[in-house]
Amino acid sequence: MSVLLKLENFKLRYGAVEAVRGINLEIRKGEIAALLGANGAGKSSTMNGIAGLAPVADGRVIFDGRDITDLPPEEIPISGLTLAPEGRRVFGTLTVADNLRMGAYAVSDPSEIRAAQDRVFTLFPILAERQNQFAGTLSGGQQQMLAIGRALMCNPRLLLLDEPSLGLAPLVVEQVFELISTLRDQSVTIFLVEQNVAGALEIADRAYLMASGQITRAGSAAEMRASEDMSASYLGVH
Ligand SMILES: Nc1ncnc2c1ncn2[C@@H]1O[C@H](COP(=O)(O)OP(=O)(O)OP(=O)(O)O)[C@@H](O)[C@H]1O
Ligand SMILES: [Mg+2]
Repeated sequence: MSVLLKLENFKLRYGAVEAVRGINLEIRKGEIAALLGANGAGKSSTMNGIAGLAPVADGRVIFDGRDITDLPPEEIPISGLTLAPEGRRVFGTLTVADNLRMGAYAVSDPSEIRAAQDRVFTLFPILAERQNQFAGTLSGGQQQMLAIGRALMCNPRLLLLDEPSLGLAPLVVEQVFELISTLRDQSVTIFLVEQNVAGALEIADRAYLMASGQITRAGSAAEMRASEDMSASYLGVH
């Protein structure tokens, strides 16, 4: 399988804090890859750095053969990669439909925007039902669906998801994981951060384990499930 995203010696620093210490990883076209690890391991920093939202101190981000390390954040979705960040950041005082339209800022063709919206509404019928409702009045799970839906509005080839299941009821978590599998079946490649290690390893093809800014283990989902380091990281999660 060909490589869609590659991090080479990827480093991220906040002042004196070395959040990511020179990691190397590859995401293959068509797979679900998971990034796992305890709180503070550097998972969100990695996601934000790829999406151009945190300053990369060293190394390179190669997306589909192109070096996007220094692209400004608003241009990265145009290249085909979007991030649904941690914490369901929807615009609470805008409607569901307006939130979705904001996600399509990089798309200029109105028929393409309509098609993207139709696709999101098919994936999340509840968002179609609530399209004129203020996003701030949606339930937590619905806001999470909206955050994912918004990221899908620019038809990404690679979707980065930072803790999509955080704070959701078990039934909704299951729905979100099912949806992620559906997206992969629709040929969206997924790079997923999760504290729900068991759930993530059920849907993922491969996984990376991160600790203190470094990748400490990588392998197929089955290998990771069997690994002893993983039990240690299970203890590190809540
Ligand atoms: N904006 C920032 N300024 C300074 N330090 C930061 C900043 N963002 C993150 N850090 C630090 O970088 C390290 C990695 O944080 P990061 O958010 O990437 O971890 P994480 O793996 O996503 O953790 P969690 O599972 O809790 O979300 C932590 O020590 C954190 O305190
Ligand atoms: Mg995080």
